[in-house]
Amino acid sequence: MVLWGLLLGVLLAAVIGYLCLPGLFRQRKPQEPPLDKGPVPWLGHAMTFRKNMFEFLKGMWAKHGDVFTVQLGGEYFTFVMDPLSFGPILKDAQRKLDFVEYAKELVLKVFGYQSVHGDHQMIHSASTKYLMGVGLEDLNKAMLDSLSLVMLGLNGCSPDASCWCEDGLFHFCYNTVFKAGYLSLFGHTEDKEQDLLQAEQLFVEFSKFDLLFPRFVYSLLGPREWLEVGRLQRFFHNVLSVKDNLKKDGLSNWLYHMLQFLREKEVAPAMQDKFNFMMLWASQGNTGPTSFWALLFLLKHPEAMQAVKKEATKVVGKTRLEARRSFSCDLSILKCTPVLDSVMEESLRLRASPTLLRVVQGDYSLKMANGQEYQLRHGDKVALFPYLSVHMDPDIHPEPTAFKYDRFLNPDGSRKVDFYKGGKKIHHYNMPWGSGVSICPGRFFALSEMKIFILLMVSYFDLELVDPDTLVPPVNPWRWGFGTTQPTHDVRFRYRLRPAE
Ligand code: HEM
Repeated sequence: MVLWGLLLGVLLAAVIGYLCLPGLFRQRKPQEPPLDKGPVPWLGHAMTFRKNMFEFLKGMWAKHGDVFTVQLGGEYFTFVMDPLSFGPILKDAQRKLDFVEYAKELVLKVFGYQSVHGDHQMIHSASTKYLMGVGLEDLNKAMLDSLSLVMLGLNGCSPDASCWCEDGLFHFCYNTVFKAGYLSLFGHTEDKEQDLLQAEQLFVEFSKFDLLFPRFVYSLLGPREWLEVGRLQRFFHNVLSVKDNLKKDGLSNWLYHMLQFLREKEVAPAMQDKFNFMMLWASQGNTGPTSFWALLFLLKHPEAMQAVKKEATKVVGKTRLEARRSFSCDLSILKCTPVLDSVMEESLRLRASPTLLRVVQGDYSLKMANGQEYQLRHGDKVALFPYLSVHMDPDIHPEPTAFKYDRFLNPDGSRKVDFYKGGKKIHHYNMPWGSGVSICPGRFFALSEMKIFILLMVSYFDLELVDPDTLVPPVNPWRWGFGTTQPTHDVRFRYRLRPAE
């Protein structure tokens, strides 16, 4: 017994030593960025970082300046905070910064999807073909039809639809945009009633997964939560299974062609199901929350709401539905909404907070815009957090925490693209979609979906906050760095379809 105890102790000490020693001995070399290993061996700053990445990085930036390396859970991350120096990292002309291998590990852990050669490139080319340009027109139409189904029900507008309903604004937006987006991309059957029920069930389970998601990625779940994540993963693999999926009508060309690529690569059907789950996550995790923030900002800023409504009336036209009718509008209008475009850019600036990560392959020389050069080590990660270093920079965006609906409009009403830092024109002035090799390939469709939803909401519905004095809720600090943020709590609102004349 004593011997076993001793052996176990030695083993434990060996594991701890193996994990911690490299960190204990690591010292900053000349030309390397300031190194902050944090208070706890191996863990470094992990706990403070995970609890509130925004506040943590603000502190580190103030302490170390524009470039610094921190230890987080045994790994070293070099944060670059000067947006004028982002160019070489995002272009990666030295070909030493990897995204693809890093992403493969992440999606294996989170979605169980084992990547195959060429799939990253394939996702981007399928998205260029079917989520942008001409390919996008079919999908916009599908989205309008799906929004009609989700918002008005099976038979179009019911004769008694114009009574007030109350809901949480976050729940309403996420639920509606999720279900409509899902039906547009993953298809539907002859049985619309069943489709709606399935989409609702999918949303309920998706919300549970979404809640656990940040702590799951950080490996901080308790035993029960691990079991729950396993159950949820199996649920999604089952409901999104390709054997049912491919039989559906209106499966989007986007998904169809990506699944065809996997079939040609002889990827097992069970793995294709996991791919579907990954695409559900990528396509539905941010659009609902972003629509929520945009609508809430409009409800809190009457002058912005008025400007959007004025634009909507011009482009949507007749805005009262007769009984049994569904929404219809000429979707080419989506190209003529500069005010709404600015509202969306501003909402994303204020609430989208992606982290861009690249793994250093071989020793890497980082050249800053001010001419300074740093050496980064093989295996370390380079990280950008543009929410703090760009979106909230008062030099680029005066009064950065304020919602200004016309921030991205020129005085002549055209889109504003000229922003400056330290008197220099800046290319990366808003980065909700990431940038470089990992830029969101769904960004044009995402914008269309959210714009159609908001145009319908402000055109066909009366909306108001239950308590007009309610404050915009703060961001849940666990979600910094994971795309669009979410509020700490929901906000009650009421809505009704405008009565027919
Ligand atoms: C407001 C909505 C959205 C936001 C803010 C957003 C943001 C992002 C960001 C920041 C990334 C890059 C992540 C990284 O660098 O690791 C990303 C990746 C991705 N997004 Fe989006 N996204 C949105 C909507 C969508 C939609 C609607 C789709 C598809 C229909 C989509 C498909 C994807 C895919 C497939 C990737 C992975 C790309 C890759 O592996 O290179 N996204 N998104």
